[in-house]
Amino acid sequence: MAEISLKWSDQLLQWSSGFRLLFGTTVTLCLKIKTNLRRSERLFTYNNRLTMEQQKKYLFEYKGFYFSVETSPEYVASLEDFEINDSDIFIATYPKSGTVWTQNILSLIIHEGHRNGTENMETMERIPWLEYNTKDRDYADLPLPRVFATHLPYYLLPRDLRRKRGRVIYVTRNPKDVMVSFYHFSKYICSLEEIPDFNLFMERFLAGKVLASSWLDHVEGWCSHAEDFNILFVTYEEMKKDLRSAVLKICNFLGRKLSEEEVDSVVKQATFENMRKDPRANYENLPDDIVEKNKGSFLRKGTVGDWKNIMTVAQNERFDKVLNEKIKTLPIKFIWDINDEI
Ligand code: PPS
Repeated sequence: MAEISLKWSDQLLQWSSGFRLLFGTTVTLCLKIKTNLRRSERLFTYNNRLTMEQQKKYLFEYKGFYFSVETSPEYVASLEDFEINDSDIFIATYPKSGTVWTQNILSLIIHEGHRNGTENMETMERIPWLEYNTKDRDYADLPLPRVFATHLPYYLLPRDLRRKRGRVIYVTRNPKDVMVSFYHFSKYICSLEEIPDFNLFMERFLAGKVLASSWLDHVEGWCSHAEDFNILFVTYEEMKKDLRSAVLKICNFLGRKLSEEEVDSVVKQATFENMRKDPRANYENLPDDIVEKNKGSFLRKGTVGDWKNIMTVAQNERFDKVLNEKIKTLPIKFIWDINDEI
C-alpha cells in the first residue's frame, strides 16, 4: 500500500514538473507528500514484519559488521588502504556513545575560529565520517590535522592506523544508555529502521542486529587491540562528571597547549545546554528526508542513567543476564548512574 502510494507521488512529481512555472508550490507540496509517505512506509514495514531480522534496505553486512546503505562494501573495503598522516585524529565510537560531543570538543580545541566564533563551519564539514563519505569529498584534500569520526570496529580501520600512525580517541558509554539513546535515534533518523517496540529493539541490540552490530564486540575488540593503536580511551560518563578534566586529558593526548581561558571556553561551549543551542553542534540543518524533526534531535537528554526511565525491571534483568558477566571482563569501568563513583 505504502509502495503503491510512493509510486503515485513519483508520478505526481513528474506531472507537476511540467507546470513548475505556473504551479511552483505544487512541487514543494509533492516533495512533502513523498517525505511523509516514506515515513509512513517505515511504520507500515514495522507493523507488518515484526521480526528480529534487519531489513536489507537499511543495513548491509560486511565482514561481520552492519553498515547503513549510505555507504557501500566497495568503499568500506577501500579504507584498508586509506593513507594516514601522522597528524590525523580519529574519533572512534559505537553509535550513541558521545561522538558528536567529542567532535565538538575536538573542533573547539583545534580551531581557534570555532572557539572564538569567527568561523561558522558545519561540524560534518570539519570532522567528516570516514566510512560515510556521502558528499564524495576527496579526504586527501582536507586541511591538516584531519579529524574523522568513525563507528568502524578496530579490524576495519585503515592499515596504517593499526601501525600506530595517527591518533585514535575511543569513546565509550554505558550500554544501557547507549541502547536507549539508539532506540530514540532510530525514530528520528530516516536511514534507520524505526522500531517503536522497545522490547524488540532491546532484543535486536543484544543480538547485535543493529547498525554497527554488537556493542560488546565493538568495545571488546577496541580494548583488546589497544596496543596496535596510538589510542586514548575516554568515557561519556567521565566527560559528564568532569568535562574540564576530560578536555585537558584530550589536549594532553593531542599535544595541544591551551591557555586557562581557552580551556574554559572549550568547556563552556561543550556543555549539553550550550551545544543544544548551537545549530551546528545539534545538526539542525539536516534536510527533512534525513531526519524527522518532530521526533527528536541529535542532542536529546544528555544524561547518565536515562535507561531507568524506560527499561522495566524484567528488561533490566534480561539485559544484565546477557551482558553483565562479559562487561565485567572489560578493562573499562562503566557507571550506570550519575552518582556512581568513577
Ligand atoms: S551518533 O549518532 O552515533 O553520532 O550519536 P552520538 O553523538 O555518539 O551520541 C548521541 C548522544 O550523546 C549525547 N550528547 C551529549 N551528552 C552530554 N553533553 C553533551 N554536550 C552532548 N552532546 C551529545 C546526545 O544527547 C545523545 O544522548 P541521549 O541520551 O540520546 O541524549
